[in-house]
Amino acid sequence: MARGMIMLVSLVCLLAGAFSVVKGEDPYVFYTWDVTYGTLSPLGVPQQVILINGQFPGPRINGSSNNNFVINVFNKLDEPILFTFLGVQHRKNSWQDGTPGTQCPIPPGTNFTYHFQIKDQIGTFFYYPTTGLHRAAGGFGPIRVFSRLLIPVPYPDPEDEFDFIIGDWHTKSHSTLRKFLDSGRSIGRPDGVLINGKSAKGDGKDDSLFTMKAGKTYKFRVCNVGMKNSLNFRVQNHPLKLVEMEGSHVVQNMYDSLDVHVGQCFTALVVADKEPKDYYVVASTRFSKTQVVGKGIIRYENGKGPASPELPEAPVGWAWSLNQFRSFRWNLTASAARPNPQGSYKYGQIPINRTIKLVHSISRGQGKLRYALNGVSHVEPETPMKLAEYYGIVDKVFKYNNMPDQPPANLDNMVEGPNVLNITFRQFVEIIIENHEKSVQSYNLDGYSFFAVAIEPGKWSPEKRKNYNLLDALSRHTIQVFPKSWAAILLTFDNAGMWNLRSEILENRYLGQQLYISNLSENKSLRDEYNLPDFVLKCGIVKDMPVPPPLYT
Ligand SMILES: *[C@@H]1O[C@H](CO)[C@@H](O)[C@H](O)[C@H]1NC(C)=O
Ligand SMILES: *[C@@H]1O[C@H](CO)[C@@H](O)[C@H](O)[C@H]1NC(C)=O
Ligand SMILES: *[C@@H]1O[C@H](CO)[C@@H](O)[C@H](O)[C@H]1NC(C)=O
Ligand SMILES: *[C@@H]1O[C@H](CO)[C@@H](O)[C@H](O)[C@H]1NC(C)=O
Ligand SMILES: *[C@@H]1O[C@H](CO)[C@@H](O)[C@H](O)[C@H]1NC(C)=O
Ligand SMILES: *[C@@H]1O[C@H](CO)[C@@H](O)[C@H](O)[C@H]1NC(C)=O
Ligand SMILES: *[C@@H]1O[C@H](CO)[C@@H](O)[C@H](O)[C@H]1NC(C)=O
Repeated sequence: MARGMIMLVSLVCLLAGAFSVVKGEDPYVFYTWDVTYGTLSPLGVPQQVILINGQFPGPRINGSSNNNFVINVFNKLDEPILFTFLGVQHRKNSWQDGTPGTQCPIPPGTNFTYHFQIKDQIGTFFYYPTTGLHRAAGGFGPIRVFSRLLIPVPYPDPEDEFDFIIGDWHTKSHSTLRKFLDSGRSIGRPDGVLINGKSAKGDGKDDSLFTMKAGKTYKFRVCNVGMKNSLNFRVQNHPLKLVEMEGSHVVQNMYDSLDVHVGQCFTALVVADKEPKDYYVVASTRFSKTQVVGKGIIRYENGKGPASPELPEAPVGWAWSLNQFRSFRWNLTASAARPNPQGSYKYGQIPINRTIKLVHSISRGQGKLRYALNGVSHVEPETPMKLAEYYGIVDKVFKYNNMPDQPPANLDNMVEGPNVLNITFRQFVEIIIENHEKSVQSYNLDGYSFFAVAIEPGKWSPEKRKNYNLLDALSRHTIQVFPKSWAAILLTFDNAGMWNLRSEILENRYLGQQLYISNLSENKSLRDEYNLPDFVLKCGIVKDMPVPPPLYT
């Protein structure tokens, strides 16, 4: 198969024998990825970046809900690498989640093939490397998941769709930034903001990112793939009609601009009904003393004239952003692919089985910088914890429940080690995240969509539950927590496996602000989880161990 070539075949699948994890009747989408270093100058300074099939950002993954994705990754870097597909739930299949706690990284000079189904999901997502600090060099790209043919979409088909991969950017290499973090320094402020790997100079010579036909409607799919900065996204003179966010069809409000925190995505419709000429799309950093701005050009077909140099103003302060969060509502009447029972409209009536409150802490000193949740700073063991569970050698690799459900009185005592929480299968759990810092945090949970029921200033207490949106909160995968504020999410832990709950802020995650949540179904039923697929990589102490017989039947 030619590199990067996409083939859509149905059923007849060479892999059927080797791979029983996916259901046969759904179509397959194949990709081959060549992951290499390259030199580009996104901000005018040549630097090392990570390319996929020669592209930065990487190529789009595209398909319909319930398609089976087969992605053969050739690692031509000099370091092991692993990719995660953010927001893709991998039901029953944490084997393919692409986090270091669940999979062995792909060694340099070898290839590994991901096989997973995107089940009962639609929307705009993205992928990125989870290893080292690779995300600081690229390796990210867009994912589009369309509704299946017979499932109605709550807006007319647009003329075309455009991906906007936006993020803060450093001109230093990922290995230099990694050295900073390893020696107790921060990665500091970004040197720029990129939109699809570029930033327009505004000298009249910039190429356009996309071209629109006057009078037509376009779908903008926007994801913040950056390292730490929340961004505000806006288009000169063109309002955004929000239609989808991280897998949920939303109540379709109009916005002049949208804040998108690290790890988040949204989909909006834009009508090309203005004077035909060039316009800037702008992505600028929020909540920082100095605003860093990235620009790109959208052109009207047969348009005349350059984009006006006057950029639309960004909103100021985070109260604006909080109000915007509160305006995001799930469209309860739109049909969509929804896994159960997360898709339940009645999430507000389910009794809460367990409350986990997470507070982060920082420890500095002696050339070291670490971040923790409830006093535990996660350190990745050499053997992925998911494999240790399957091989029955947990005792040699990690301990469950290192971390208490409530923050300890003294957060200054930090423990380092694997941070794995045990959650009883199918429990309905409330997770509160309190941010005591001056900067915005952003958290992602793999394997699930959760109901983002509240974000409020101050500290959480049980009586704050009366302020939860228990009716039409968005079901999504990433939530921001504003400075000196808290956020609450609700979900049923019905996806057996081991899943990463992490700070999407790259340096915090790299330095320990993350944990894994594990549960195996008590009945060891194939209905709940797949057996270890035979093709997954083995490393650490399980490398040469005999593979245990199938655990689930
Ligand atoms: C993307 O996926 C959709 C839905 O499966 C399909 O209609 C479309 O042809 C695909 N586009 C490309 C470029 O593969
Ligand atoms: C590596 O790529 C080759 C050629 O495409 C393929 O046959 C093989 O299955 C791949 N190996 C893995 C482990 O994915
Ligand atoms: C919600 O979805 C329905 C069904 O597709 C659609 O008719 C309606 O306009 C949407 N409502 C809002 C407020 O966006
Ligand atoms: C996980 O928690 C359940 C109760 O929630 C308990 O019964 C079980 O023993 C725990 N398992 C481990 C491995 O700690
Ligand atoms: C998962 O939950 C079940 C109850 O459903 C419990 O018996 C088991 O110990 C838990 N497993 C782990 C690894 O935490
Ligand atoms: C959760 O709590 C409800 C109500 O107390 C109870 O009926 C249910 O069994 C609990 N579920 C689990 C998985 O613990
Ligand atoms: C396990 O199986 C028993 C008997 O079939 C059933 O009652 C129970 O609900 C199952 N537990 C889970 C977590 O699915």
